[in-house]
Amino acid sequence: MCGIVGYIGTQQAAPLLLEGLGRLEHRGYDSAGMAVLGTGGALRVAKRSGRVRDLAEEVPARFGGKVGIGHTRWATHGPATDHNAHPHTDVAGRVAVVHNGILDNASSLRAMLADEGVELASDTDTEVLAHLVARSGADTLEGRVADALGAVEGTYGLAVVHADFPDRIVVARNGSPLIVGVGDKEMHVASDLAALVRYTTTVAYLDDGEMATVTAQGFTTYRHDTAQLHRTHRDAARVDVDPAAYEIGEHESFMHAEMLEQPRAAERVLRGRLDERFGTSHLGGLNLDARELRAIRRVKILGCGSAYYVGQMGASMIEELARIPADAEAASEFRYRDPVIEPDTLYVAVSQSGETIDTLLAVQEIRRKGGRVVGLVNVVGSAIARECDGGIYLHAGPEVAVASTKALTTMFLAFSLLALQLGRVRDLSIADGKRLIAGLQQLPEQIQSVLDRDDELAKVAERLAASDSLFFIGRVRGFPVAREGAQKFKEITYRHAEAYQTSELKHGPLALISEDVPTVALVPDDELVERNVAALHEIAARRGPLVVVTHEGVDLGDLSAAPGTHRIDVPRNEREIDPILLTIPLQVLAYHAAKHLGLDADKPRNLAKSVTVE
Ligand code: F6R
Repeated sequence: MCGIVGYIGTQQAAPLLLEGLGRLEHRGYDSAGMAVLGTGGALRVAKRSGRVRDLAEEVPARFGGKVGIGHTRWATHGPATDHNAHPHTDVAGRVAVVHNGILDNASSLRAMLADEGVELASDTDTEVLAHLVARSGADTLEGRVADALGAVEGTYGLAVVHADFPDRIVVARNGSPLIVGVGDKEMHVASDLAALVRYTTTVAYLDDGEMATVTAQGFTTYRHDTAQLHRTHRDAARVDVDPAAYEIGEHESFMHAEMLEQPRAAERVLRGRLDERFGTSHLGGLNLDARELRAIRRVKILGCGSAYYVGQMGASMIEELARIPADAEAASEFRYRDPVIEPDTLYVAVSQSGETIDTLLAVQEIRRKGGRVVGLVNVVGSAIARECDGGIYLHAGPEVAVASTKALTTMFLAFSLLALQLGRVRDLSIADGKRLIAGLQQLPEQIQSVLDRDDELAKVAERLAASDSLFFIGRVRGFPVAREGAQKFKEITYRHAEAYQTSELKHGPLALISEDVPTVALVPDDELVERNVAALHEIAARRGPLVVVTHEGVDLGDLSAAPGTHRIDVPRNEREIDPILLTIPLQVLAYHAAKHLGLDADKPRNLAKSVTVE
């Protein structure tokens, strides 16, 4: 959510900043801007609401200078206007600041500055930082930034340039990521690896409470959350990433590329973790031995949005295989209900980005109260990964599209690995363990076979896109799948899509069924199949069109011949693993519906990747 870039070195900064902003645009695309220090020390700022491509039109060729910072914004304080776009500057126009996060005491600081006669140019919280830096009496830019940070409360990743200190960028982090990238006689700054990997993979991640001075020759870090600045020792290290993984390649969108990558992502998360001999999994990163695993009496899963829904799938799998009570809860609600933290509960935080503030704060709340938390996280070294006592990395690779697909699939598989391990130190038999492993091994190929039916699914999607409102229904294992299906559909098509338990339809929502309201029904061939099919008849009797996601051999009776019914058979796996195979066609349907409606699936309106504000 919001993206920061910075450059200092021997090249012109503006084109590099624009390129970096383009790569961070998925983190916020309400507005974009940059500030460049010219050779004569003049600070030039260009910023506007809209996309990075709009900013690019505005940055004139003469925007020369080898030091600069840039920002792409997802609006929090103040609407997406030119004035509210970052960078923000002081009154004299000598300081420029870009900021991710939220300053909680911004209104009192704005009032204080206004009382002192400062004319504020925006509605944002960030602007106060520029004025606070400008009014500090410290001799150095580092001292001035530290003074400003001493006055603010809240979260930030930020970068500052100052016309009086043209040889440096000062950056700081508290709750919002900030990375320094080391090049050859040049240095980069970014809030996300995606903006750096084209130039360097030698990076240093700042810690919360840390600040850095970045010059063309290198960087120096300090702690700024103490009375004085204290040097810290942080080395840059090579990160093992493939820059090509951040490229869209020949694909029409990142979401499409990421959906298609799912068979390979599934192989990666399973690789080296299946123990076929003993029907269990190897999960060294959990930092839990067999005795500790056996002592767990309950599992509580926390995540937000789609990560929460996949957490529900994981909870039912853990309960089924390990026979431990397990449930999932929205991390955004958890800490506000003053939860009881139990020593024999295993808390599991699940997050693609590892940055989602609600999930991070839930983890911190659990740890504060003495609980044990493990993380199912994609981004290595992210805040949630670092905060947890152990975990399972997802190895999904970078996920750029706002709507999560491949990361969710790997989350599901990581839950399978966890469920296997918890099950096998309890009553799950070796035969059942082996049965599940065989199922997991088949999965990449089965996912591929669903993805191969792109054309057929695109036609169904076209029909669904014509409706303003849809239901997604499922029961027990199928209900979180329905929730995830509705989520994916609504976020990228802007259609109203609502998930319901199939069993609850007749307690209310059936009133809404009509020939204009299609239902996407999850009907796996499990112990509830007959009841599910009966519910479909109730929908068909009200002329509701149906898309039935099911297994070959499931008898839909006379519904099969009904003109309003479309059937999508997914391959059969073990019943515990089936939910993920039922999820894949729902992603493809949402994607094609959005495409048919002419919408940008990668950047849905009002949303951004990685929600780092509450
Ligand atoms: C939906 C989606 C979001 C995220 C949620 C949590 O497609 O992507 O609902 O799942 O914002 O994000 P992470 O997993 O980064 O914590």
